[in-house]
Amino acid sequence: MSAAAAPEAGRARFARDVREGLSRPQRELSPEYFYDDVGSALFEAICHLPEYGVTRAEERILAASAGEIAARAEGARLLIELGSGSGRKTVRVLEAFGRNGRMVYCPIDVSPSALERCRRDLEHLAVIRPVTASYLDGLRAALAERPPGRPVLVLFLGGTIGNFNPSSAVAFLERVRGLLAPGDLLLLGADLVKPAEVLLPAYDDPAGVTAAFNRNLLARINRELGGNFTLSRFAHEARYDAAHQRVEMHLRSLCRQDVEVPAAGLRFTLEEGETIWTESSYRFDLAGLTSMAAQAGFDPLAHWLDAGWPFALSLWRVGAVPPDHQARA
Ligand code: AVJ
Repeated sequence: MSAAAAPEAGRARFARDVREGLSRPQRELSPEYFYDDVGSALFEAICHLPEYGVTRAEERILAASAGEIAARAEGARLLIELGSGSGRKTVRVLEAFGRNGRMVYCPIDVSPSALERCRRDLEHLAVIRPVTASYLDGLRAALAERPPGRPVLVLFLGGTIGNFNPSSAVAFLERVRGLLAPGDLLLLGADLVKPAEVLLPAYDDPAGVTAAFNRNLLARINRELGGNFTLSRFAHEARYDAAHQRVEMHLRSLCRQDVEVPAAGLRFTLEEGETIWTESSYRFDLAGLTSMAAQAGFDPLAHWLDAGWPFALSLWRVGAVPPDHQARA
């Protein structure tokens, strides 16, 4: 199984989202579009930056606790990962499940090259069934591999849940839950609140890798939708909004300039100093994670933390009884 949305449908959706987002009073682009092949490679580089502690914190937790996590998910033979990237962290989880009992691993990602690397690096540990799709479409397809009578373990790592605003995060997790069965498990990685002095350099590193990652979104619009963005006319900007506990990334126009994106049917003028908002990356605390689990219809079972760079891996189980608000819906 290698599910892929028709490229035309993907491009049409990209064009529509670009048109809508760039037409708003505060212009914006969705961070999901960062991850074409170039953007996925730049994100991999970000994970190696000394200033960006997120990935290493999660890797330390997995290195220390994959055995306990696998024990909590005993009986699972199907592992599905939402947004696997290269799948490097998942090695720990697959190793912990051991080789007795054949594991099937379905990495879901929008980047075919990341999935290819994933297959190469992990095929000695499990049967790999890559799915090129968005999270929910991919999850639906991957669940077709469920062995009867066994729980499924879904991984949503890296702190990507932080890209959703709080109400969309709950809505998204509810939809994930709706595709799962009672007893299924979700392992969620979430970055925890920390001082702005630590967070800001992680999103505005001195080597300029994050700036390149951010500007690549405009380059992608140029490549795929025929846009005419001049990347050097945009400054990368990271801000911390303490009230919302989120880092924001913007691209600030350095001059008044005309922009055209023919395939999105878009023409507009950017004023000097105007920004395009490209990402929000929310931070969490443990109480917030617990209440998010409950709102989405999961029972939180356990969490594992990294103290060096505060980060949480939280294990949730789909309860037998749907929460009230779902029963009423
Ligand atoms: C992959 C969404 C977790 O928000 O920290 C890294 C993406 N953006 N640097 C994050 C990202 C800027 C990352 N996530």
